[in-house]
Amino acid sequence: MIELKDVSFSYQGRKAVENITFSVQKGEKVVILGINGSGKSTILKIINALLFPQEGTYRYRGEIITPKKMKDREFVRKFRKEVVLLFQNPDTMIFNPTVFDEIAFGLRQLGEKDIKEKVHYWADKLGIFHLLDRSPFELSGGEKQKVCLAALLSLEPEVLLLDEPTANLDPRSTGWLIDFLYQLDITVVTTTHNLGIALELGERGLVLSENHRLIYDGNLSEFLKDREKLLEANLIHIHRHRHDDMEHRHYHIHDDFS
Ligand SMILES: Nc1ncnc2c1ncn2[C@@H]1O[C@H](COP(=O)(O)OP(=O)(O)OP(=O)(O)O)[C@@H](O)[C@H]1O
Ligand SMILES: [Mg+2]
Repeated sequence: MIELKDVSFSYQGRKAVENITFSVQKGEKVVILGINGSGKSTILKIINALLFPQEGTYRYRGEIITPKKMKDREFVRKFRKEVVLLFQNPDTMIFNPTVFDEIAFGLRQLGEKDIKEKVHYWADKLGIFHLLDRSPFELSGGEKQKVCLAALLSLEPEVLLLDEPTANLDPRSTGWLIDFLYQLDITVVTTTHNLGIALELGERGLVLSENHRLIYDGNLSEFLKDREKLLEANLIHIHRHRHDDMEHRHYHIHDDFS
């Protein structure tokens, strides 16, 4: 369904993604792991056709995604409904006067029917029904994230791209999101640097190194047991302490350093 082949991308000459190849089948749940700046968000933006590979190709359902392809109105309409991205920072997604309008926006754009019913259904499911008349700008970070998620889910996408979706959520909401994603049968690609929840977000892990390359693609629980690979990805680090002329070493798995 999603195929990246030898994809590279730089911002003003600075590398963000280097020679990445992977594909994702329909219905797979994939977790992209990597430290700050490794290129996770950039990969999701490429899959969402907000950025285009400068080298290599991205195919969605076999179609090569290029700026020209994204001018084909019929294709774009279908693509924007099928492939949706929850941004890392919900503030960049919010611009409507009320939460209701925020959730309804995409549905209206796509000329969908039964908008009120859909908005109410998803607001209820995400526990934000009581916020529908509020301005989304004055909500908390977690509430904003839920509004954005409701707006995306109301489109009934085929591919859900989630950029650090639990960063703003409390434990109860995180638990809810994990359970909810688990029972969805659509394709989900989630980024995180939280090793504590990575395994609950998917079985397959794609791991990026500091120099923006893919260093692992496979079973996530195997990866999390591989100390060398975790070190290579800088997802753990070693502390050295000296006590009584003896050097003690231990390493930490960071549950969350966002
Ligand atoms: N708009 C931009 N302009 C210039 N450079 C950028 C821009 N966005 C990202 N970068 C750079 O590209 C690289 C990859 O960034 P990206 O946001 O994809 O990383 P990330 O893995 O999502 O990081 P984080 O965990 O902090 O969200 C970083 O070095 C970053 O500084
Ligand atoms: Mg990011």
